Amino acid sequence: MRKKSFIAFEGIDGSGKSTQVKLLVNKLKEEGHKVYCTSEPTDRPIAAMIRDIFQHKMEADHRTIAGLFIADRLDHLLNKSTGILKKLDEGYTVIIDRYYFSSYAYQGVHMSLDWVIEANKQSADLLRPDLNIFIDIEPDIAIQRINKGREIIELYETKENLTNVRNKFFEAFEKQKELEKIFITDGNRSHDNIACDIWRKVSEIL
Ligand code: ADP
Ligand code: TYD
Repeated sequence: MRKKSFIAFEGIDGSGKSTQVKLLVNKLKEEGHKVYCTSEPTDRPIAAMIRDIFQHKMEADHRTIAGLFIADRLDHLLNKSTGILKKLDEGYTVIIDRYYFSSYAYQGVHMSLDWVIEANKQSADLLRPDLNIFIDIEPDIAIQRINKGREIIELYETKENLTNVRNKFFEAFEKQKELEKIFITDGNRSHDNIACDIWRKVSEIL
């Protein structure tokens, strides 16, 4: 087993990331891996502001939101208590629910994608995922799932926006294809089929 594996899950809201993260974490643990599971936005102070904005408790410009995500991500990588780099040094396989491709796609809808990529360069230079797993789902289905499971519809959770975000993910994957390992899986299927595909791909890199 390789010492440091860092795997990022990406997808639009409601695509099934959290579900697949859990399934992968369980599978890795069963196979004897030491796993640290985390997500962005984090549960740390910078992200508390992001959540307030998303839940309409505070207003902020999209450029400010982009800056907050960048700060939250750097803190996530570098903080001395639970930082991802520290966890990797301790020999954990780290699974993350959203990383910088989420910024490329969500913030890239509102400002230049190249700017967002450049602004995240510190994070990319510190740590590129060994694998980016994109769960691709139709925005229509995502919206149905979101409306079913939640009371508050967050800032970005409209069909129009999720369609734009999905397109922006693909634009970003195309732009970054020389630099990044990207695996796209069809999320409009059963949990088990998706999990099976993901496990096959992850097994190749461990
Ligand atoms: P995300 O973390 O990407 O927002 P979740 O994993 O929370 O997505 O899934 C959103 C909703 O869709 C949840 O209610 C979940 O149970 C359901 N769900 C997840 N994967 C599937 C699937 N493959 N088929 C049908 N429903 C799913
Ligand atoms: P998350 O808690 O993952 O939402 P969900 O569980 O519904 O998928 O993320 C909250 C929102 O944050 C989601 O709409 C995507 C957005 N987001 C960005 O806009 N930029 C980013 O860099 C990240 C990490 C998330």
